Amino acid sequence: MGAMSTHTPRAPRINPSILTADFANLERELDRIATADFVHVDVMDNHFVPNLTFGKTMVERLNEVSPIPLDVHLMISDADHWAPGYAEVGAASVTFHAEASTDPVTLARRLRQRGARAGIALKPGTDVEPYLELLPEFDQILIMTVEPGFGGQSFMTDMMPKLRRAADAVAASGLDVWLQVDGGISLDTIGIAAEHGADTFVAGSAVYNVGEPDAQIAALRAAAASSAHQH
Ligand code: DX5
Ligand code: ZN
Repeated sequence: MGAMSTHTPRAPRINPSILTADFANLERELDRIATADFVHVDVMDNHFVPNLTFGKTMVERLNEVSPIPLDVHLMISDADHWAPGYAEVGAASVTFHAEASTDPVTLARRLRQRGARAGIALKPGTDVEPYLELLPEFDQILIMTVEPGFGGQSFMTDMMPKLRRAADAVAASGLDVWLQVDGGISLDTIGIAAEHGADTFVAGSAVYNVGEPDAQIAALRAAAASSAHQH
């Protein structure tokens, strides 16, 4: 950021992941995170990742009872076929994996046509460069900071150069593409991600497994904001 820059860091978004919530009481668990920006819903198919969670019917019902909009993270194969259905049932944001789509641009356009924000997610081993020339097609890029599949894993600091390259490209484009990080985000790590340009933070364990979700959301938001302002 140059000295003459008028750029003001955007307010950080905190998206708690219900992967770590009590699956027997999801309506109550959604109410506990009403001060967050979006609820992050991890859809897994036991094929793209070795874990199985929710499908479209569940997402539709969660959307009906949630006090905040849904940020759906699809960890499923054949995203080209399945992803549009999640926009049709009302998810505000649908993020599919680059590794699971044969035509990300067409898929993103179909998501937007159905009224959803279109996101593309990258596993730790996937380069971001091929997607940086497609920025106008996306509303969000998700840089995974763990291997997708499970909550409670350790944050991969070595993803920070990739995050920074994405942040630089977004800044140069002037587009309002959100940069999301997911995996191992806590009070100890959120500042590092914010410093490297993330503005949207998924946190499962750090929201649901540490004290009261409201207090955790506020603390994570404050930590991200203070690090982003130092950048
Ligand atoms: C992992 C999921 C994450 C997970 C994050 O594959 O995509 O959204 O819920 O959990 P934590 O914050 O515990 O690492
Ligand atoms: Zn996720």
